[in-house]
Amino acid sequence: MVSLTINGKKVRGKEGSTLLELCRERSISIPTLCYHPDLSPHGSCRLCTVEVLKDGKRRMVTACNFPVQSGIEVWTHSESVLRVRRILVELLLARCPEVKLLKELAEELGVEKSRFYTKEAKEKCLLCGLCIRTCRQIVGANAIGFSQRGTLRKVSPPFEVDSDQCIACGACEFICPTGAIRMEMDRIRKIKDSGTGTRRYCRYMRLGLIDFMICSNGYECWRCELDQRMEDQFGTHPAFALKPAKKRTPFQIGFFTFHPDLFYHEQHLWLKPMDSWIKVGLDGLSSSLALVADSLWLPLVGGSIKEGERIATLIQGDKKVTFLSPIAGRILAVNQEALDSPSLVGRDPYYRGWLLLIQPEEKDKIWEFYTGERAKEWFTKKAQEMEPLLDDSKGVKSPKDIFGKEEIREKWDRWIEILLINRS
Ligand code: SF4
Ligand code: SF4
Ligand code: FES
Repeated sequence: MVSLTINGKKVRGKEGSTLLELCRERSISIPTLCYHPDLSPHGSCRLCTVEVLKDGKRRMVTACNFPVQSGIEVWTHSESVLRVRRILVELLLARCPEVKLLKELAEELGVEKSRFYTKEAKEKCLLCGLCIRTCRQIVGANAIGFSQRGTLRKVSPPFEVDSDQCIACGACEFICPTGAIRMEMDRIRKIKDSGTGTRRYCRYMRLGLIDFMICSNGYECWRCELDQRMEDQFGTHPAFALKPAKKRTPFQIGFFTFHPDLFYHEQHLWLKPMDSWIKVGLDGLSSSLALVADSLWLPLVGGSIKEGERIATLIQGDKKVTFLSPIAGRILAVNQEALDSPSLVGRDPYYRGWLLLIQPEEKDKIWEFYTGERAKEWFTKKAQEMEPLLDDSKGVKSPKDIFGKEEIREKWDRWIEILLINRS
Protein backbone atom coordinates (compact mmCIF):
# COMPACT_ATOMS: atom_id res chain seq x y z
CA MET A 1 0.00 0.00 0.00
CA VAL A 2 1.18 3.53 -0.74
CA SER A 3 0.04 6.96 0.48
CA LEU A 4 -1.15 9.71 -1.81
CA THR A 5 -3.52 12.66 -1.71
CA ILE A 6 -6.83 12.86 -3.55
CA ASN A 7 -8.74 16.13 -3.53
CA GLY A 8 -6.75 17.28 -0.49
CA LYS A 9 -7.34 14.09 1.55
CA LYS A 10 -4.60 11.62 2.46
CA VAL A 11 -5.51 8.14 1.24
CA ARG A 12 -3.84 4.78 0.89
CA GLY A 13 -4.01 2.76 -2.29
CA LYS A 14 -2.75 -0.53 -3.68
CA GLU A 15 0.34 -0.34 -5.84
CA GLY A 16 -0.49 -1.76 -9.25
CA SER A 17 -4.07 -0.43 -9.22
CA THR A 18 -5.15 2.61 -11.23
CA LEU A 19 -6.32 6.00 -10.02
CA LEU A 20 -9.76 5.25 -11.42
CA GLU A 21 -10.04 2.02 -9.42
CA LEU A 22 -8.94 3.79 -6.26
CA CYS A 23 -11.39 6.68 -6.82
CA ARG A 24 -14.23 4.25 -7.46
CA GLU A 25 -13.42 2.36 -4.27
CA ARG A 26 -13.73 5.66 -2.42
CA SER A 27 -16.96 6.60 -4.23
CA ILE A 28 -15.38 9.50 -6.10
CA SER A 29 -17.26 9.68 -9.37
CA ILE A 30 -15.22 10.11 -12.54
CA PRO A 31 -16.90 9.91 -15.95
CA THR A 32 -15.68 7.22 -18.35
CA LEU A 33 -16.64 6.07 -21.81
CA CYS A 34 -13.95 3.68 -22.96
CA TYR A 35 -13.35 1.95 -19.62
CA HIS A 36 -14.69 -1.45 -18.60
CA PRO A 37 -13.38 -3.35 -15.56
CA ASP A 38 -13.06 -6.60 -17.52
CA LEU A 39 -11.03 -5.04 -20.33
CA SER A 40 -7.56 -3.55 -20.51
CA PRO A 41 -7.71 0.26 -20.31
CA HIS A 42 -7.49 1.99 -23.64
CA GLY A 43 -7.20 5.64 -22.63
CA SER A 44 -8.94 6.83 -25.77
CA CYS A 45 -11.94 8.91 -24.67
CA ARG A 46 -9.89 10.87 -22.09
CA LEU A 47 -13.04 11.71 -20.16
CA CYS A 48 -11.53 10.29 -17.01
CA THR A 49 -8.88 13.04 -17.09
CA VAL A 50 -7.63 14.12 -13.66
CA GLU A 51 -4.87 16.49 -12.60
CA VAL A 52 -1.77 15.02 -10.97
CA LEU A 53 1.12 16.73 -9.18
CA LYS A 54 4.22 14.58 -9.27
CA ASP A 55 7.84 15.59 -8.68
CA GLY A 56 6.77 19.25 -8.61
CA LYS A 57 5.07 19.04 -12.04
CA ARG A 58 1.34 19.29 -12.66
CA ARG A 59 -0.17 17.45 -15.59
CA MET A 60 -3.39 16.01 -16.94
CA VAL A 61 -3.51 12.21 -17.01
CA THR A 62 -6.18 9.62 -17.73
CA ALA A 63 -7.21 8.00 -14.45
CA CYS A 64 -8.19 4.69 -16.07
CA ASN A 65 -4.59 3.83 -16.91
CA PHE A 66 -2.55 5.97 -14.52
CA PRO A 67 -1.03 3.87 -11.73
CA VAL A 68 -1.48 4.68 -8.05
CA GLN A 69 1.89 6.03 -6.86
CA SER A 70 3.35 7.09 -3.57
CA GLY A 71 3.34 10.82 -2.77
CA ILE A 72 1.36 12.10 -5.74
CA GLU A 73 -1.45 14.65 -5.39
CA VAL A 74 -4.58 14.14 -7.46
CA TRP A 75 -7.51 16.47 -8.25
CA THR A 76 -10.51 14.84 -9.82
CA HIS A 77 -12.81 17.86 -10.11
CA SER A 78 -10.59 20.96 -10.31
CA GLU A 79 -11.68 23.76 -12.65
CA SER A 80 -9.02 22.77 -15.21
CA VAL A 81 -10.15 19.12 -15.10
CA LEU A 82 -13.78 20.08 -15.67
CA ARG A 83 -12.77 22.41 -18.52
CA VAL A 84 -10.95 19.54 -20.26
CA ARG A 85 -13.92 17.19 -19.80
CA ARG A 86 -16.31 19.81 -21.21
CA ILE A 87 -14.18 20.31 -24.31
CA LEU A 88 -13.95 16.55 -24.79
CA VAL A 89 -17.71 16.17 -24.55
CA GLU A 90 -18.17 19.02 -27.04
CA LEU A 91 -15.85 17.28 -29.48
CA LEU A 92 -17.65 13.97 -29.03
CA LEU A 93 -21.01 15.70 -29.43
CA ALA A 94 -19.81 17.19 -32.69
CA ARG A 95 -19.23 13.66 -33.92
CA CYS A 96 -22.26 11.96 -32.37
CA PRO A 97 -24.85 14.69 -31.64
CA GLU A 98 -27.75 12.30 -31.13
CA VAL A 99 -26.17 9.81 -28.75
CA LYS A 100 -28.26 9.81 -25.55
CA LEU A 101 -25.37 8.90 -23.27
CA LEU A 102 -23.37 11.89 -24.51
CA LYS A 103 -26.27 14.26 -24.14
CA GLU A 104 -26.66 13.17 -20.52
CA LEU A 105 -22.96 13.62 -19.89
CA ALA A 106 -23.05 17.06 -21.50
CA GLU A 107 -25.90 18.04 -19.22
CA GLU A 108 -24.03 16.81 -16.16
CA LEU A 109 -21.02 18.89 -17.14
CA GLY A 110 -23.10 21.96 -18.01
CA VAL A 111 -22.45 21.81 -21.77
CA GLU A 112 -25.45 23.08 -23.69
CA LYS A 113 -24.20 22.48 -27.19
CA SER A 114 -21.03 21.84 -29.08
CA ARG A 115 -19.14 24.83 -30.45
CA PHE A 116 -17.54 22.59 -33.04
CA TYR A 117 -18.78 21.66 -36.49
CA THR A 118 -21.48 19.05 -36.08
CA LYS A 119 -21.65 16.12 -38.47
CA GLU A 120 -24.91 14.78 -39.75
CA ALA A 121 -26.79 13.34 -36.83
CA LYS A 122 -26.29 9.73 -37.95
CA GLU A 123 -22.93 8.84 -36.37
CA LYS A 124 -23.31 6.74 -33.26
CA CYS A 125 -19.84 5.31 -32.81
CA LEU A 126 -17.70 7.13 -30.24
CA LEU A 127 -14.60 5.14 -31.23
CA CYS A 128 -14.26 4.01 -27.63
CA GLY A 129 -13.01 0.60 -28.78
CA LEU A 130 -15.01 -1.35 -26.18
CA CYS A 131 -16.40 -3.64 -28.87
CA ILE A 132 -12.95 -4.38 -30.30
CA ARG A 133 -11.43 -5.18 -26.92
CA THR A 134 -14.45 -7.31 -26.00
CA CYS A 135 -14.11 -9.34 -29.18
CA ARG A 136 -10.39 -9.78 -28.57
CA GLN A 137 -10.05 -10.08 -24.81
CA ILE A 138 -13.37 -11.62 -23.75
CA VAL A 139 -14.51 -13.63 -26.76
CA GLY A 140 -11.08 -14.34 -28.24
CA ALA A 141 -12.35 -13.98 -31.81
CA ASN A 142 -10.39 -10.91 -32.93
CA ALA A 143 -12.94 -10.28 -35.65
CA ILE A 144 -13.06 -6.47 -35.62
CA GLY A 145 -10.65 -3.57 -35.34
CA PHE A 146 -10.26 0.11 -36.19
CA SER A 147 -9.77 0.96 -39.82
CA GLN A 148 -8.93 4.20 -41.66
CA ARG A 149 -7.70 7.41 -40.05
CA GLY A 150 -8.84 10.82 -38.84
CA THR A 151 -12.52 11.58 -39.32
CA LEU A 152 -12.92 8.42 -41.42
CA ARG A 153 -11.81 6.16 -38.58
CA LYS A 154 -14.30 3.42 -37.85
CA VAL A 155 -14.83 -0.05 -36.44
CA SER A 156 -14.86 -2.78 -39.04
CA PRO A 157 -13.73 -6.33 -39.79
CA PRO A 158 -10.31 -6.67 -41.43
CA PHE A 159 -10.31 -5.15 -44.94
CA GLU A 160 -13.95 -4.21 -44.31
CA VAL A 161 -15.08 -7.63 -45.47
CA ASP A 162 -17.34 -9.79 -43.25
CA SER A 163 -14.90 -11.79 -41.19
CA ASP A 164 -14.92 -15.56 -40.81
CA GLN A 165 -13.43 -14.99 -37.38
CA CYS A 166 -16.74 -13.54 -36.16
CA ILE A 167 -18.82 -16.14 -34.35
CA ALA A 168 -21.82 -13.81 -34.17
CA CYS A 169 -21.88 -14.08 -30.38
CA GLY A 170 -23.30 -10.59 -29.96
CA ALA A 171 -20.89 -9.57 -27.17
CA CYS A 172 -19.83 -6.47 -29.12
CA GLU A 173 -23.43 -5.38 -29.53
CA PHE A 174 -23.98 -6.00 -25.84
CA ILE A 175 -21.05 -3.84 -24.71
CA CYS A 176 -21.47 -0.93 -27.13
CA PRO A 177 -22.72 1.99 -25.01
CA THR A 178 -24.40 3.78 -27.90
CA GLY A 179 -26.12 1.12 -29.97
CA ALA A 180 -23.67 1.73 -32.83
CA ILE A 181 -23.21 -2.00 -33.32
CA ARG A 182 -26.25 -3.97 -34.34
CA MET A 183 -26.31 -7.65 -35.16
CA GLU A 184 -27.89 -7.79 -38.61
CA MET A 185 -29.83 -11.00 -39.20
CA ASP A 186 -28.73 -11.32 -42.82
CA ARG A 187 -25.10 -11.06 -41.86
CA ILE A 188 -25.42 -13.40 -38.90
CA ARG A 189 -26.96 -16.01 -41.15
CA LYS A 190 -24.23 -15.46 -43.69
CA ILE A 191 -21.57 -15.96 -41.02
CA LYS A 192 -23.17 -18.97 -39.40
CA ASP A 193 -24.81 -20.64 -42.33
CA SER A 194 -22.44 -19.85 -45.13
CA GLY A 195 -21.16 -22.17 -47.81
CA THR A 196 -17.66 -21.32 -46.56
CA GLY A 197 -18.08 -24.21 -44.25
CA THR A 198 -19.63 -23.13 -40.99
CA ARG A 199 -22.73 -24.93 -39.83
CA ARG A 200 -25.71 -23.71 -37.84
CA TYR A 201 -23.91 -24.04 -34.55
CA CYS A 202 -25.38 -22.17 -31.62
CA ARG A 203 -23.47 -19.05 -30.57
CA TYR A 204 -22.95 -20.54 -27.11
CA MET A 205 -21.29 -23.57 -28.64
CA ARG A 206 -19.04 -21.26 -30.63
CA LEU A 207 -18.22 -19.43 -27.44
CA GLY A 208 -17.19 -22.78 -25.97
CA LEU A 209 -19.88 -22.59 -23.27
CA ILE A 210 -21.75 -25.73 -24.34
CA ASP A 211 -20.49 -28.78 -26.14
CA PHE A 212 -22.92 -29.20 -28.99
CA MET A 213 -26.05 -27.40 -30.13
CA ILE A 214 -27.51 -26.72 -33.56
CA CYS A 215 -29.65 -23.59 -33.81
CA SER A 216 -33.21 -24.38 -34.78
CA ASN A 217 -34.40 -20.79 -34.51
CA GLY A 218 -32.73 -19.35 -37.60
CA TYR A 219 -30.43 -17.39 -35.23
CA GLU A 220 -33.28 -15.37 -33.85
CA CYS A 221 -31.86 -15.74 -30.36
CA TRP A 222 -34.66 -13.78 -28.73
CA ARG A 223 -37.00 -16.69 -29.64
CA CYS A 224 -34.70 -19.26 -28.06
CA GLU A 225 -35.26 -20.79 -24.65
CA LEU A 226 -31.58 -21.58 -24.18
CA ASP A 227 -30.69 -17.96 -24.85
CA GLN A 228 -33.22 -16.85 -22.29
CA ARG A 229 -31.90 -19.31 -19.72
CA MET A 230 -28.32 -18.19 -20.34
CA GLU A 231 -29.22 -14.56 -19.79
CA ASP A 232 -31.30 -15.35 -16.70
CA GLN A 233 -28.51 -17.44 -15.24
CA PHE A 234 -25.74 -14.92 -15.73
CA GLY A 235 -27.59 -11.61 -15.60
CA THR A 236 -25.21 -10.34 -18.28
CA HIS A 237 -23.98 -11.51 -21.66
CA PRO A 238 -22.61 -15.03 -21.04
CA ALA A 239 -19.33 -14.09 -22.70
CA PHE A 240 -18.75 -11.56 -19.91
CA ALA A 241 -19.78 -14.00 -17.21
CA LEU A 242 -17.47 -16.77 -18.41
CA LYS A 243 -14.78 -14.89 -20.34
CA PRO A 244 -14.00 -17.72 -22.73
CA ALA A 245 -10.92 -15.99 -24.16
CA LYS A 246 -9.28 -15.91 -20.73
CA LYS A 247 -9.75 -19.63 -20.27
CA ARG A 248 -8.23 -20.37 -23.61
CA THR A 249 -4.62 -20.32 -22.65
CA PRO A 250 -2.51 -23.47 -22.71
CA PHE A 251 -2.37 -25.57 -19.56
CA GLN A 252 -0.64 -28.71 -18.41
CA ILE A 253 -2.23 -32.16 -18.70
CA GLY A 254 0.14 -34.59 -17.03
CA PHE A 255 3.59 -33.79 -18.42
CA PHE A 256 2.24 -32.16 -21.56
CA THR A 257 0.83 -28.79 -22.60
CA PHE A 258 -2.67 -28.62 -24.02
CA HIS A 259 -4.26 -25.60 -25.73
CA PRO A 260 -8.04 -25.64 -25.24
CA ASP A 261 -8.82 -23.34 -28.14
CA LEU A 262 -7.69 -25.54 -31.00
CA PHE A 263 -8.79 -28.48 -33.11
CA TYR A 264 -6.78 -31.67 -32.83
CA HIS A 265 -6.19 -34.54 -35.22
CA GLU A 266 -4.99 -38.02 -34.32
CA GLN A 267 -1.79 -37.36 -36.23
CA HIS A 268 -0.97 -35.18 -33.21
CA LEU A 269 -1.39 -32.00 -35.14
CA TRP A 270 -3.33 -28.97 -33.96
CA LEU A 271 -5.36 -26.88 -36.38
CA LYS A 272 -6.57 -23.34 -35.94
CA PRO A 273 -9.06 -21.80 -38.38
CA MET A 274 -8.13 -18.22 -39.29
CA ASP A 275 -10.35 -16.42 -41.79
CA SER A 276 -10.11 -18.54 -44.91
CA TRP A 277 -6.97 -20.48 -44.00
CA ILE A 278 -5.90 -22.92 -41.33
CA LYS A 279 -2.77 -22.79 -39.20
CA VAL A 280 -1.22 -26.15 -38.34
CA GLY A 281 1.30 -27.22 -35.73
CA LEU A 282 2.42 -30.20 -33.65
CA ASP A 283 0.50 -30.76 -30.43
CA GLY A 284 2.03 -30.79 -26.94
CA LEU A 285 2.64 -34.54 -27.14
CA SER A 286 4.31 -34.87 -30.51
CA SER A 287 6.12 -31.52 -30.42
CA SER A 288 8.37 -32.84 -27.63
CA LEU A 289 10.10 -34.91 -30.30
CA ALA A 290 11.17 -31.67 -31.96
CA LEU A 291 13.25 -30.83 -28.89
CA VAL A 292 15.87 -33.33 -30.04
CA ALA A 293 15.28 -33.20 -33.80
CA ASP A 294 18.25 -32.25 -35.97
CA SER A 295 16.06 -30.94 -38.76
CA LEU A 296 12.50 -30.39 -39.89
CA TRP A 297 11.02 -30.89 -43.34
CA LEU A 298 7.96 -28.93 -44.49
CA PRO A 299 6.34 -28.80 -47.95
CA LEU A 300 7.03 -25.97 -50.38
CA VAL A 301 4.97 -22.80 -50.28
CA GLY A 302 2.54 -22.53 -53.21
CA GLY A 303 2.21 -26.29 -53.66
CA SER A 304 -0.87 -28.29 -52.87
CA ILE A 305 -1.28 -31.12 -50.44
CA LYS A 306 -3.78 -33.98 -50.32
CA GLU A 307 -5.33 -35.48 -47.22
CA GLY A 308 -3.02 -38.25 -45.97
CA GLU A 309 0.07 -36.84 -47.70
CA ARG A 310 3.24 -35.96 -45.79
CA ILE A 311 2.91 -32.55 -44.16
CA ALA A 312 5.98 -32.52 -41.87
CA THR A 313 8.94 -34.72 -40.98
CA LEU A 314 11.23 -34.48 -37.98
CA ILE A 315 14.65 -36.03 -38.39
CA GLN A 316 16.91 -37.11 -35.55
CA GLY A 317 20.12 -38.88 -36.60
CA ASP A 318 19.02 -41.78 -38.75
CA LYS A 319 15.49 -41.69 -37.36
CA LYS A 320 12.49 -39.91 -38.72
CA VAL A 321 8.93 -39.22 -37.78
CA THR A 322 6.43 -38.15 -40.40
CA PHE A 323 3.10 -36.41 -39.92
CA LEU A 324 0.33 -36.81 -42.47
CA SER A 325 -1.99 -34.00 -43.47
CA PRO A 326 -5.51 -34.24 -42.11
CA ILE A 327 -6.78 -31.82 -44.79
CA ALA A 328 -6.30 -31.08 -48.47
CA GLY A 329 -5.39 -27.59 -49.64
CA ARG A 330 -2.73 -25.19 -50.82
CA ILE A 331 0.33 -24.32 -48.73
CA LEU A 332 0.24 -20.59 -48.13
CA ALA A 333 3.20 -20.22 -45.78
CA VAL A 334 5.67 -22.22 -43.71
CA ASN A 335 7.36 -21.14 -40.49
CA GLN A 336 10.96 -20.34 -41.46
CA GLU A 337 11.95 -19.87 -37.81
CA ALA A 338 10.89 -23.46 -37.08
CA LEU A 339 12.77 -24.75 -40.11
CA ASP A 340 15.90 -22.94 -38.94
CA SER A 341 15.54 -24.16 -35.38
CA PRO A 342 13.25 -27.23 -35.01
CA SER A 343 13.58 -27.19 -31.22
CA LEU A 344 11.37 -24.06 -31.30
CA VAL A 345 8.47 -26.38 -32.18
CA GLY A 346 9.13 -28.30 -28.96
CA ARG A 347 9.66 -25.21 -26.83
CA ASP A 348 6.65 -23.21 -28.02
CA PRO A 349 4.40 -25.58 -30.01
CA TYR A 350 1.22 -23.49 -30.00
CA TYR A 351 2.61 -20.05 -30.84
CA ARG A 352 6.06 -19.36 -32.30
CA GLY A 353 6.54 -23.03 -33.18
CA TRP A 354 3.62 -23.30 -35.64
CA LEU A 355 4.39 -25.19 -38.84
CA LEU A 356 2.37 -23.98 -41.79
CA LEU A 357 -0.67 -22.17 -43.14
CA ILE A 358 -3.00 -24.01 -45.48
CA GLN A 359 -5.82 -22.74 -47.63
CA PRO A 360 -8.16 -25.72 -47.24
CA GLU A 361 -10.19 -27.19 -50.05
CA GLU A 362 -12.97 -27.94 -47.59
CA LYS A 363 -13.10 -25.59 -44.65
CA ASP A 364 -15.87 -27.52 -42.95
CA LYS A 365 -13.62 -30.55 -42.60
CA ILE A 366 -12.07 -29.12 -39.46
CA TRP A 367 -15.28 -29.81 -37.55
CA GLU A 368 -14.60 -33.54 -37.92
CA PHE A 369 -11.59 -33.23 -35.59
CA TYR A 370 -11.42 -33.15 -31.81
CA THR A 371 -12.34 -29.85 -30.21
CA GLY A 372 -13.50 -28.55 -26.81
CA GLU A 373 -14.12 -31.25 -24.20
CA ARG A 374 -13.64 -34.08 -26.70
CA ALA A 375 -10.18 -32.77 -27.51
CA LYS A 376 -9.30 -32.54 -23.82
CA GLU A 377 -10.48 -36.10 -23.14
CA TRP A 378 -8.51 -37.48 -26.07
CA PHE A 379 -5.38 -35.54 -25.11
CA THR A 380 -5.66 -36.64 -21.47
CA LYS A 381 -5.91 -40.28 -22.51
CA LYS A 382 -2.85 -39.97 -24.71
CA ALA A 383 -0.90 -38.09 -22.02
CA GLN A 384 -1.68 -40.93 -19.58
CA GLU A 385 -0.48 -43.52 -22.07
CA MET A 386 2.81 -41.64 -22.30
CA GLU A 387 3.41 -41.46 -18.56
CA PRO A 388 5.16 -44.85 -18.07
CA LEU A 389 7.72 -43.69 -20.57
CA LEU A 390 8.57 -40.68 -18.46
CA ASP A 391 8.16 -42.16 -15.01
CA ASP A 392 11.16 -44.41 -15.19
CA SER A 393 13.42 -41.36 -15.44
CA LYS A 394 14.25 -39.87 -12.05
CA GLY A 395 12.97 -36.40 -11.28
CA VAL A 396 11.15 -35.99 -14.56
CA LYS A 397 8.53 -33.25 -14.51
CA SER A 398 8.18 -32.51 -18.21
CA PRO A 399 9.57 -33.81 -21.50
CA LYS A 400 12.11 -30.98 -21.38
CA ASP A 401 13.69 -32.65 -18.32
CA ILE A 402 14.37 -35.82 -20.22
CA PHE A 403 14.99 -34.84 -23.78
CA GLY A 404 18.49 -33.86 -24.57
CA LYS A 405 19.77 -36.83 -22.59
CA GLU A 406 21.19 -39.56 -24.74
CA GLU A 407 19.45 -42.41 -22.96
CA ILE A 408 16.09 -40.76 -23.60
CA ARG A 409 16.79 -40.17 -27.25
CA GLU A 410 16.56 -43.92 -27.40
CA LYS A 411 12.92 -43.63 -26.38
CA TRP A 412 12.11 -41.90 -29.65
CA ASP A 413 10.76 -45.12 -31.20
CA ARG A 414 8.63 -46.00 -28.21
CA TRP A 415 7.29 -42.43 -28.09
CA ILE A 416 6.18 -42.65 -31.70
CA GLU A 417 4.67 -46.08 -31.12
CA ILE A 418 2.47 -44.79 -28.32
CA LEU A 419 1.40 -41.74 -30.28
CA LEU A 420 0.59 -43.94 -33.28
CA ILE A 421 2.36 -41.72 -35.78
CA ASN A 422 4.59 -42.83 -38.64
CA ARG A 423 8.18 -43.75 -38.10
CA SER A 424 9.42 -43.09 -41.63
S1 SF4 B 1 -19.16 0.65 -31.99
FE1 SF4 B 1 -19.77 1.17 -29.89
S2 SF4 B 1 -18.33 0.06 -28.57
FE2 SF4 B 1 -17.47 0.07 -30.64
S3 SF4 B 1 -16.10 1.83 -30.69
FE3 SF4 B 1 -18.09 2.52 -31.46
S4 SF4 B 1 -19.18 3.30 -29.66
FE4 SF4 B 1 -17.46 2.10 -28.90
S1 SF4 C 1 -20.26 -10.84 -32.70
FE1 SF4 C 1 -18.76 -11.69 -31.24
S2 SF4 C 1 -17.15 -12.50 -32.56
FE2 SF4 C 1 -18.39 -11.15 -33.87
S3 SF4 C 1 -17.36 -9.16 -33.80
FE3 SF4 C 1 -18.90 -9.17 -32.15
S4 SF4 C 1 -17.80 -9.88 -30.29
FE4 SF4 C 1 -16.54 -10.40 -32.09
S1 FES D 1 -12.18 6.03 -19.54
FE1 FES D 1 -10.15 6.65 -19.34
S2 FES D 1 -9.64 7.35 -21.30
FE2 FES D 1 -11.66 6.61 -21.53
